[in-house]
Amino acid sequence: MNQKQLVGEKAATFVEDGMVVGLGTGSTAVYMVQALAERVKNEKLSIVCVSTSKATEKLALSLGLNMKPLAEVNKIDLTIDGADEISPDFHGIKGGGGALLYEKIVATNSKKNLWIVDDSKLVNTLGKFPLPVEVVPFGCEHLFEKFKEKGYRPEYRKDEEGAKFITDSDHFIIDLYLEKIEDPKAFANELKNEVGVVEHGLFIDIVDQVIAGTPDGKIEIETK
Ligand code: 5RP
Repeated sequence: MNQKQLVGEKAATFVEDGMVVGLGTGSTAVYMVQALAERVKNEKLSIVCVSTSKATEKLALSLGLNMKPLAEVNKIDLTIDGADEISPDFHGIKGGGGALLYEKIVATNSKKNLWIVDDSKLVNTLGKFPLPVEVVPFGCEHLFEKFKEKGYRPEYRKDEEGAKFITDSDHFIIDLYLEKIEDPKAFANELKNEVGVVEHGLFIDIVDQVIAGTPDGKIEIETK
C-alpha cells in the first residue's frame, strides 16, 4: 500500500460518531474520504461533512456522505487534509491542488486539524515547494510584476489546456518559486498586506496533528 493510502485510511479512523468533519482536497485526502465513506456505511456512523473544494464535494456526494455547506454547521470538530510541506515547527504550505482558500477557511473554523502526508512532505525549511498565492484577476499583472521585482520568481498556475488555472472562487493562482522561506510568519503577513491577494498557501499555527508515512511502510503520528 502506498504512503498516501496508508495515512489516508488511518486518518479516517480518527472520526467519531456525531462529529462534523472537514474533508480536505488532493490525492491523499481522496483515500481518506473513501475510507471514511466505508466506515460510515459499515458502522452506521452519523456524521456531517463539510468540503474544502468542489472536487472533494463531488467525490463525497458520490460516496453517499452527508454534506453540508460551512454556513450550516456551527463548528467543525475535525478537519483532515493533505499538505505540500510541513516544517518541524508545524507550519506548512498547502494549495498544490489549488484549494488553499477554502482549505484555510475550513481549517480555521475547525477545533482540530489533522494533516496526512507521505514522508516527502516533511521538510526542515519551507519553500522548496512553490508557494501558491490566490489573487483577484483584476489587475493581477501588476502584482505579478511586483513579485518579480522582489525576486519571488512568480508563475501563473496553468490548467491542463495551458490557460490560467481558475480556483473554485474564480481567482487566479500565482506560484512563487522561492526555494526557501526564512521567516514564514513574516512572509505570510507581507503577502496578506498586498491588495489583490486573497489568500496564500502558508498555513501558520493551524495544524494540530500530523500523520506521516515512512519509507518502510509504517506511519508516524506527531502532535503539536
Ligand atoms: C490542495 C492541497 C493538498 O492538500 C496538497 O496539495 C497535497 O496534495 P496531495 O495529497 O495530492 O499530495 O493543499 O490545495
